[in-house]
Parts: sequence; structure tokens; C-alpha cells
Amino acid sequence: MTLTRKARIVEVGPRDGLQNEKRAVATATKLELIDRLADAGLRDIEAASFVSPKWIPQMADHGELMRALKRRPGVNYPVLTPNLKGFEAALAAGAEEVAVFAAASESFSRKNINCSIAESIERFDPVFAAAKAAGVRVRGYVSTVIACPYEGPIAPQAVADVAEALYARGAYEVSLGDTIGTGTPATVERMLAAVARVVPVERMAGHYHDTYGMAVANVDASWRFGVGTFDSSVSGLGGCPYAKGATGNVATEDVVYLLHGLGADTGIDLDALVDTSLWISGVLGREPGSRVTRALVARRGELVTAC
Ligand code: HMG
Ligand code: MG
Repeated sequence: MTLTRKARIVEVGPRDGLQNEKRAVATATKLELIDRLADAGLRDIEAASFVSPKWIPQMADHGELMRALKRRPGVNYPVLTPNLKGFEAALAAGAEEVAVFAAASESFSRKNINCSIAESIERFDPVFAAAKAAGVRVRGYVSTVIACPYEGPIAPQAVADVAEALYARGAYEVSLGDTIGTGTPATVERMLAAVARVVPVERMAGHYHDTYGMAVANVDASWRFGVGTFDSSVSGLGGCPYAKGATGNVATEDVVYLLHGLGADTGIDLDALVDTSLWISGVLGREPGSRVTRALVARRGELVTAC
């Protein structure tokens, strides 16, 4: 008897996806998106980030959003917190899981959170302590795990060092971000191998942006490596405000299609997810960024161009 391997998808569209939108997205729209994603079977939905509104105005409604969220049993709604101020605001708004985010590149760290890598880890110490006291789970992110928009290629050991620091401080999982999407299966596997020496593979997650169209291949390589958790955004929404030209995350629909094709159990209803992708694309006035969605819609005989 072969047991189906379970895959976990962390939907980051409402945060990573919408943090880069030029037009303001109403809080009610974000809440509806989160609700629809939960309807489609997503159980981890990154809802917002408690960062400075001067840096990321798109996430300025974080408190209002978290307070209005209709939480469902069994669904996690993590939020990003760059420092204790963000953590305290997130806790006051009812967050039960937070994510701290560091980078493997000094230049990106400075551009993104205005401090060095070492300073960022020091800043997270009080967040880890406060989270432990409050019973809040902490996820850790490492950005620029393959390359940095300012420095170029990043050594796998540099990624492993930051991942190890976050894991040692109590991150239950370390998400590895190919922020600018330049990775290929070969570079991703080298990076995973370095991180796996210091973080158990079942505590590693892949967070791949699709700028070069390699993200699905990188998910496949990571799955074969033993990674079982992937971050993705519905319709491939997003980009990084501090990585010019970087596109959104790999589309959730594309990851689900791939994983189902590999025989994995994601717990996600692909048809409902496609409907959510069509809906949010319509609201934002563009075509769905997922090739799987476009193909399935064409097959349904109802190709709608949102623009
Ligand atoms: P700073 O300017 O160095 O901070 O920013 P500061 O401590 O000097 O404070 C400056 C002002 O910000 C003060 O307000 C603080 O109160 C306020 P003022 O006195 O000027 O009115 N402030 C805050 N306000 C709200 N919430 C807070 C907060 N902290 C300070 N938490 C800081 C440092 C980290 C705050 C800033 O750089 C920042 O907010 N950066 C966020 C950048 C960001 O969100 N980037 C995108 C997310 S990361 C990402 O997308 C990558 C990922 O997807 C993985 C991947 O793809 O690689 C995760
Ligand atoms: Mg990202």
C-alpha cells in the first residue's frame, strides 16, 4: 500500500500579492479574497503585514482587516511582523501566527527593512520572546536565497546561516524566498542541500517567485528533494516593492495542478481556486496570471478577458 504524501500550501496572495498593487485594494475585497481562498480549501492564508505604512501603504489596513476577519476553525491567518512594534499591533488585532523576515543578502536587508542581517536577527529576538509568552507561532522567512537584485548570486551557505539563526530562535518553519525568481532546479537544489544541513527538511518551505518562469520547476525539484510546504499566490499576484522587475509568486493554481499530478494530497479544490483566481483578476482588471487557470477556463469554453 502506498500512502499519499501530503503537501501544504501557504497562500500568500492577500499579503505578498497585494503589497505591490499600484491601485488601493479595499479591505472588504481583501476579506472576500481570504474567505474565498478558505472556501477553496486553503488552510494557511497569509492575511496582512504589520509593517510601517510609510514603507508599504498597501498593508496599512492590517489592524482593521485582522479585526474584521471571520476566522474559521482549522485555518491559520499568519501576518508579517518586522519588529516588536509590529508584533504588538498584530497580537492586539488577534493574530495567532506571525512571520519574521530576514534576507541572505546585506543589500536587500538594508533596502527592505533598513538594517543589516545581524541587526534584523537581533530585532527578532524580542519578537520570538513575546510570541512565546503569548503562545503565538513564529514562521521565519529568508529572502534572496538564490540571488539579490543588488548583489547578484548568493552563496548557499549564507542562506543556511540565516535559516539556522531563525530556526534556532524558535521559528517552526523557515520559508526560503527566491525573491527575484532567477533560481533553476540546479541552483535551488544546491541551496536546499545547504539549508538541510542545519534545518530539518520537514521544517523548510519553498517560496518561489516566477519572474523567469522557473517557479513550477523549482517546486517540482524541491518536492523531490523532500520539501512538502510551498508558498504561492492565487493568480500569481504580486511582486516585491524592493526588488524592481520581480513578478509575483508562483500561482497557487499552478502549484496545485503540479502537486496533484505528482499524486500529492493538497486538500485544495482546484475548480474553486480557479473561480477565485478569475474573481480577483476581474476585480484588479487583468487576466489571470496562472497558465493553469487560463487553460482550464478555455476548456470550460468561457474564456473571459478581464482587462
Ligand atoms: P525604519 O524607518 O528603519 O523604522 O523602518 P524605525 O524604527 O526608525 O521607525 C520609523 C517609523 O516607522 C516610525 O514612525 C515608527 O513608529 C514606524 P514615525 O515616528 O516616523 O511616525 N514603525 C512602524 N509602523 C508600523 N508598524 C511597524 C513599524 N515599525 C516602525 N511594524 C521597518 C524599519 C522594518 C519598520 C520598515 O523598513 C518596514 O516596515 N519595512 C517593511 C518592508 C516590507 O514590508 N517589505 C515587503 C515584505 S518582505 C517580502 O515581500 C519578501 C518575502 O515575500 C519573501 C521573498 O519573496 O523573498 C517575505
Ligand atoms: Mg515573496
